[in-house]
Amino acid sequence: MSTQSSERLAADFAADVRRDLALVPKQLQSKYLYDALGSSLFEAICRLPWYRITRAEQRLLEAHAPAVVERITRDPETVPLIVELGCGSGEKIVILAEALQAAGRHGRVHLIDISRQALEQSERTLGRLRHISVVGHRDTYEVGLRRAAQQREAGSPVLVLLLGSNIGNFDAPAAGEFLRAIRGALVPGDALLLGADLVKTEDALRLAYDDPLGVTAAFNRNLLVRINRELGATFDLDGFRHVAVWNAEHSRVEMHLESLRAQTVRIDGWAVAFAEGERIWTESSYKYEPADIDQMGARAGFSTAAQWIDEDVRFALTLFAAA
Ligand code: TRP
Repeated sequence: MSTQSSERLAADFAADVRRDLALVPKQLQSKYLYDALGSSLFEAICRLPWYRITRAEQRLLEAHAPAVVERITRDPETVPLIVELGCGSGEKIVILAEALQAAGRHGRVHLIDISRQALEQSERTLGRLRHISVVGHRDTYEVGLRRAAQQREAGSPVLVLLLGSNIGNFDAPAAGEFLRAIRGALVPGDALLLGADLVKTEDALRLAYDDPLGVTAAFNRNLLVRINRELGATFDLDGFRHVAVWNAEHSRVEMHLESLRAQTVRIDGWAVAFAEGERIWTESSYKYEPADIDQMGARAGFSTAAQWIDEDVRFALTLFAAA
């Protein structure tokens, strides 16, 4: 990664924290959860018995990778490009890259993630595939996608992966805008594979975002540790607890950090006051019905080519064609 993007990400972090803690209610952007420790804690979340999204999605990918790969291998002369937005450990894209190799094809992979550790791990995971070249971009989705799309070879199909219900971390207007930006980087013949979590019982949702081992709480509270370290803040970890609530009206699980008492925190020379019980909203995870997903894609200029659902976990993998 260039020093330029690293410095820009650091400057954005400071400016975003300052702006978002001045909002009512206070907020912090969820992309900042993923420093090195945050990425490791998220990996642990994906292994928790109560967080079933990752395993359900991997099963769907294993079952349907050949059908996905078929869409981008119709012209035998091309080298397909797969771009993953938010690659995490790379355990998902490797399933598709292996299917591409199994179809006797070479491929190019671009990985986009805000977390350096996630990129390094994904590059290692994919490194064992001999016919796949890998480029990592440590950046936001928007900037990384633009960079990756610029490097497409004329005529080579592109498959964009947006998995892990990462789409659900955007509210509806932002998700629509983001899907349109993805569509804008694609041409007819390209595809988008979207993994999105479905509405299920409140109990199952709450346990997935507030687990009995406290790993999700540690993941959320680590954001305060990061702000203390990188921005010289004075958050007292004992003064904040993790809260996860299901907001049925908006069909989302909300994650918050709740102040346990009235307190003032200093961040690099400025002071932020918290009332007892006041919350910082750190993330939303929207949950969908299968038809919502089709409509969201259609509004952004995609047509649904296939939709596979794990009925046990209630998770959907949707293959969209750039119409
Ligand atoms: N995209 C994941 C999701 O919405 C991210 C996630 C899982 C997450 N567990 C979390 C984010 C807990 C914050 C806290 O499911």
